[in-house]
Amino acid sequence: MKIVTIVGARPQFIKAAAVSRELKKHPAIEEVLVHTGQHYDQNMSQVFFDQMEIPKPSHHLEVNSMSHGAMTGAMLEKIENVLIAEKPDGVLVFGDTNSTLAGALAATKLHIPLIHVEAGLRSFNNRMPEEINRILTDRVSSFLFCPTETAIKNLSDEGFANFQSRVIKCGDVMLDAALYYGEKSSQNSSIIKDQNLEKGRFALATIHRAENTDDPKILGNLISALNSINQSAPVIVPLHPRTQKLLEGIDTKPQFKIIPPVGYFDMIELIKGCHCVLTDSGGLQKEAFFFSKGCLTLREQTEWVELVEVGANLIVGTDPEKITDGYKKMKDCQNDFDHSLYGGGQASKNIVDCLLKELKA
Ligand code: UD1
Ligand code: UDP
Repeated sequence: MKIVTIVGARPQFIKAAAVSRELKKHPAIEEVLVHTGQHYDQNMSQVFFDQMEIPKPSHHLEVNSMSHGAMTGAMLEKIENVLIAEKPDGVLVFGDTNSTLAGALAATKLHIPLIHVEAGLRSFNNRMPEEINRILTDRVSSFLFCPTETAIKNLSDEGFANFQSRVIKCGDVMLDAALYYGEKSSQNSSIIKDQNLEKGRFALATIHRAENTDDPKILGNLISALNSINQSAPVIVPLHPRTQKLLEGIDTKPQFKIIPPVGYFDMIELIKGCHCVLTDSGGLQKEAFFFSKGCLTLREQTEWVELVEVGANLIVGTDPEKITDGYKKMKDCQNDFDHSLYGGGQASKNIVDCLLKELKA
């Protein structure tokens, strides 16, 4: 059985690392990795391949830094060529980026079964590019692997029972990755010492979503909220290049510590060491939970609503006062951080077992 896996952006390298490790255990499966090139800086891409033993991509498409339409179109054309040459039995895509959508369109137009990992998530905000990408990808997928009960319910509400697709609750592959690499991170990272941080006494933040970075007023609000928190405890921000570029255009200057994006081992050590996470990232909201930290979501909605329901995550949006008040509540948050919400670390195994049984059947 041949599977072509499409990756391109940072969160997909992390998800692919977990699933690829499971695929490798089965000699009956050949995995061919395609890197669209969407993320390309050394510390946004290669570092993950080096540290996480992800297979070397067989095809590198080098498509990046374009408008949504141009990027998705260029990827679609190039992925189609790869799929025609490789003739896989299935195409595997992750999450909700432009690379996901391009892979989905290329595969389904060639009548190749599409496997979507992290299916069924919704923010119900169509202004987010991720929402468009995930809705369209889900609709054409043959196998929809859902991380949570909420994702299953979203698909059911959209009438997926009427479609010829398989909806499967498998758990979250990001928990698989967090558990596996979380055991190795302390031997592979010295970031806490290198950055002069004191364990349990700093906040970790990331900002990169388009809705937060592209409006200078919103970005300014987020910077001033982090400046204010930084007066009571150090704030460290491994900054996405998109945000780094846009920071130059705003008047509010960061007074907290900004570092370039870090590899996964460093990131895990920062999460383990901090006393609170503030983020607009999808993945980081869950990783905070996996490593027993409270999280403030710097957006108006989250797809990971169960984190809010159990009290581990607070949606604070982008208003500085709401953020600083939320920080006081969530810092050193106590919760049972029950991993079973996300499947307990068996998601990749569940996915591969299902594909072995059903993909060629
Ligand atoms: C993309 C995803 C987003 C995901 C994020 C993960 C889409 C629509 N968005 O957003 O869902 O949360 O990845 O990090 O697919 N850049 C660099 N170097 C890099 C990568 C990006 O300098 O290695 C800069 C470029 O100026 C680029 C900009 O960041 O134009 C935006 O990159 P892009 O891949 O379009 O979107 P992200 O904001 O990374
Ligand atoms: N991440 C990382 N280094 C960083 C910032 C994030 O390794 O400097 C990891 C993070 O731990 C998570 C993933 O990247 O596993 C999340 O990606 P991102 O926030 O870019 O995208 P999203 O999840 O919002 O789509």
